[in-house]
Amino acid sequence: MKILQQELSSLTIQRGLDVATRDGGFAREMLNGLAGCQEMLALDLSDKAFEKGAKKCQGLPVNFVKGDACAMDFEDHSFDLVAVANSLHHIPDLTSLFREMRRVVKPGGLLIFSEMYCDGQEGGALTHWILHNMDCYLDTFKGVYHDRTYTKAHILHMVREAGFTIKKTFCDYVEDPAVVKKLHERVAEVPERIKPYEGRPEYGLLAGAAAWLKETYETEGISSAHQLVIFAEV
Ligand SMILES: C[S@@+](CC[C@H](N)C(=O)[O-])C[C@H]1O[C@@H](n2cnc3c(N)ncnc32)[C@H](O)[C@@H]1O
Repeated sequence: MKILQQELSSLTIQRGLDVATRDGGFAREMLNGLAGCQEMLALDLSDKAFEKGAKKCQGLPVNFVKGDACAMDFEDHSFDLVAVANSLHHIPDLTSLFREMRRVVKPGGLLIFSEMYCDGQEGGALTHWILHNMDCYLDTFKGVYHDRTYTKAHILHMVREAGFTIKKTFCDYVEDPAVVKKLHERVAEVPERIKPYEGRPEYGLLAGAAAWLKETYETEGISSAHQLVIFAEV
């Protein structure tokens, strides 16, 4: 995320927190721009991706912590920076998330909200967004909360409504070839993932999305969906 890294490069951040981090992907993107950062805590409700994340973060000051972003076990005003990426659509209780982010950031500290949006994705980025829709459907059918991402206007509205002051916004995307390779692999896995639903009422929706995905992938290829990045303060 070149613009993110450029925007962060002039800032002094010693201690950061990336909530809902999964394998620390966004923590790594931030650290590529943050020269003097001494510690980036990477928090997630699930520790499933921590081992893989620790390998990817070797040599970086990232420490993975298991915990709920909506009820964090940190003192008030603990971090110079608190970020959440691609996860607003995974967390049903955004009121608690925003309250906790506000509580643990230092006065004058930086909040970053980075979120894949649903309006205006084009080319290979649209393919990624359709692939993401498949994940939403499959998670939803399994009873896991997973929304289909919001419009840019809606994301901005949520951040403003939560009482944060927006300082800067821009759109950016992940260029890491390893991430793009994984997207190609995930497209290839779709037929196998929807197969168990054959003959069930959910199958129509999944088959329709899979057909749209195949057509878009064949014409546009795939690249990382674009994210709206918001820098804000309390
Ligand atoms: C799409 S992944 C995040 C990806 C990562 N931030 C990135 O941009 O590379 C969503 C993550 O949210 C986590 N999550 C959902 N609810 C959470 C909560 N209440 N507290 C912490 N993590 C949560 C999930 O476990 C999952 O790892």
